[in-house]
Amino acid sequence: MDAIRIVGGTPIEGRIRISGAKNAALPILCATLLSDGESLLRNVPALRDIETCSDLLRTIGREVSCAPPEVRVGGSDITPEAPYELVKRMRASVLVLGPLLARCGRAKVSLPGGCQIGSRPIDQHLKGLEALGANIKLDRGYVIADAPRLRGAEVVFDMPTVTGTENLMMAAALAKGTTTLVNCAREPEIVELARVLNKMGARVSGAGTASISIEGQDELAPFDHAIISDRIETGTYMVAAGATGGDLLIEGAPLSDLEALVGKLRAAGISITAEGEAIRVQRQGPLRAVNTTTSPHPGFPTDMQAQFMVLMCVAEGTSRITETIFENRFMHVPELRRMGAKIAVEGHTAFVTGVPELTGAEVMATDLRASASLVIAGLVATDEETTIRRVYHLDRGYEKMEAKLAAVGATVERIRGLSP
Ligand code: EPZ
Repeated sequence: MDAIRIVGGTPIEGRIRISGAKNAALPILCATLLSDGESLLRNVPALRDIETCSDLLRTIGREVSCAPPEVRVGGSDITPEAPYELVKRMRASVLVLGPLLARCGRAKVSLPGGCQIGSRPIDQHLKGLEALGANIKLDRGYVIADAPRLRGAEVVFDMPTVTGTENLMMAAALAKGTTTLVNCAREPEIVELARVLNKMGARVSGAGTASISIEGQDELAPFDHAIISDRIETGTYMVAAGATGGDLLIEGAPLSDLEALVGKLRAAGISITAEGEAIRVQRQGPLRAVNTTTSPHPGFPTDMQAQFMVLMCVAEGTSRITETIFENRFMHVPELRRMGAKIAVEGHTAFVTGVPELTGAEVMATDLRASASLVIAGLVATDEETTIRRVYHLDRGYEKMEAKLAAVGATVERIRGLSP
């Protein structure tokens, strides 16, 4: 397994271009199942999760040319089955369930199981599909679903669920009649999926609000679409620039969709300004402790919680960070403590007392965003070496991270095949 070695202490300065959004590309890749013919996705990031999703679509019978930033998906044969072997590699594989059921009238998809950050149930996905007329059974770790033709209905989610909303949007796009989804997730990636479904001939309205209406069609067409940029990658580099006291120009990402994060970063003493099409992030003075609580979009994103915590580790004062979305998303805390961070955890709240310096250490990545937080911690540990193991977690969601950081002055290298 690869590792990343960093020598910290250099403020990152220069330009970084943001890649396409992983969490937009994944549902859109699954949406290709809703039509025959060849769809083209552009600005797709080169990530492990994109390769995994391409493998899954091939297993289902599609012809996939995965050559980021372009991915072509074509063919007409479909075997509506998603095996455990692939679903366990990437939970988002559950996003084939809605499209397969709508397109083929049946689907056999492995239950995704939990992951490091939580149990990750899909009860809301299944409840919604049953409301559209699907007969759902669970059998030996698989969801067995069938429905001669899904019918439009009203679905009220118990809580905003990103992939639950996405699964139901795709299923409803080929249902007979109109579906209304209530208490939906409002993430920008959901708005992006609605844009693609409408390009395919669907009639989706309200995406980005808590209520989405989908008028089902008998048939949908393939599409050509350029994926939006990744707001979490953008936020991650904003934090890296702020934490190292750097001066970074972030290209290819809009400042919109990050209001909650940007508000907290500015409160912490980081300057964030639009410069033409780019975003300039600078920090000269001391970092200030700021409290935050994660919540569904447009609130503070849970996918930025670990990265923000590193910033607070070297801020003046004590901050409180509460995680409300996932039950176990503090896996980075013990690793940060090994680097000198002062963090106490009580239930879902971490109390961070800022320290003047972090120290380098050998640390272990546990999940995607925790690994990003360890990279930032390594950049901050002045003149110290940090080795982060199991960086396959990082490769799931950050395209060429060490190359992008090296290009703005960081001392960072990948070590191939280091024991885990
Ligand atoms: C999506 O996961 C993202 N993944 C996650 O990003 C992100 O952290 C999460 O949304 C929250 O923003 C993709 O888009 C591929 P949820 P998802 O369903 O859809 C509970 C990353 O780092 N819930 O919105 O799986 C659930 O347990 C990844 O890029 C149910 O109880 O998250 C959680 O507490 C990590 N039953 C809450 O809802 C359900 O049926 C929100 O989960 C579904 C969800």
